[in-house]
Amino acid sequence: MSGQGRFVSFEGIDGSGKSTQARLLYEALIGAGRDAVLTREPGGSPGAEEIRKLVLEGDPDRWSAETELLLFTAARRDHLERTIRPALAAGQIVICDRFVDSTRMYQGLRSGDLRAKVDALHDLMIGQEPDLTLLIDMDPDAGLARALRRGDGEARFESFGSDLQRRMRQGFLDLARAAPDRIRVIDGARNVDAVARDVHALVMDYLA
Ligand code: ADP
Ligand code: TYD
Repeated sequence: MSGQGRFVSFEGIDGSGKSTQARLLYEALIGAGRDAVLTREPGGSPGAEEIRKLVLEGDPDRWSAETELLLFTAARRDHLERTIRPALAAGQIVICDRFVDSTRMYQGLRSGDLRAKVDALHDLMIGQEPDLTLLIDMDPDAGLARALRRGDGEARFESFGSDLQRRMRQGFLDLARAAPDRIRVIDGARNVDAVARDVHALVMDYLA
């Protein structure tokens, strides 16, 4: 457990509905009188939001896979120090749109054997897993179509295409199989309300 608070992350491929569901969960918890914080990665603190711009905008070949891993980890460290740990210490429920599982998949799968380095760097510099992770699972082509429709100019990763997204979907499901107590899989290929009902039920069950 994380301090006195609880740390809930959302994971999944681009366009699976994480941001939508994270926001709805946050609103539901606040509406129910719980003390919650909504945050995201990369970002979630002023310094990490600056790093977000560096990694998500510009030429897809701008950074090597290794440099990118260091940038995401630097952003996470700042986010952890400035936002997540203080909130957990204050007893808040931290809802985070993506965390280290995204690095395990996006950097870990993208080039050769980076996965071992992702885990080593995580152990060395972060050392914190979420208490509960909600994996929003869906078909990559449908997710990609949703994400591209959003048109927010942060398309560096989305431009990697559906083959990589397919490997990531499988990779996320493998992570969930390896850590079934932490990671719960939710079928994201349904309407927003149906997904939100499952998210809410799982989180309420966990918090109880
Ligand atoms: P992510 O954070 O996983 O990339 P978003 O929550 O930003 O996904 O959703 C991507 C796009 O798809 C947004 O335009 C959002 O409004 C839309 N969307 C989210 N959930 C659903 C859903 N269950 N069905 C249809 N469209 C959705
Ligand atoms: P995000 O804004 O959550 O994108 P989306 O809403 O499309 O899912 O995250 C931006 C991109 O950053 C996304 O394509 C995944 C990537 N990413 C990594 O490659 N490594 C990481 O550690 C994190 C947190 C995100």
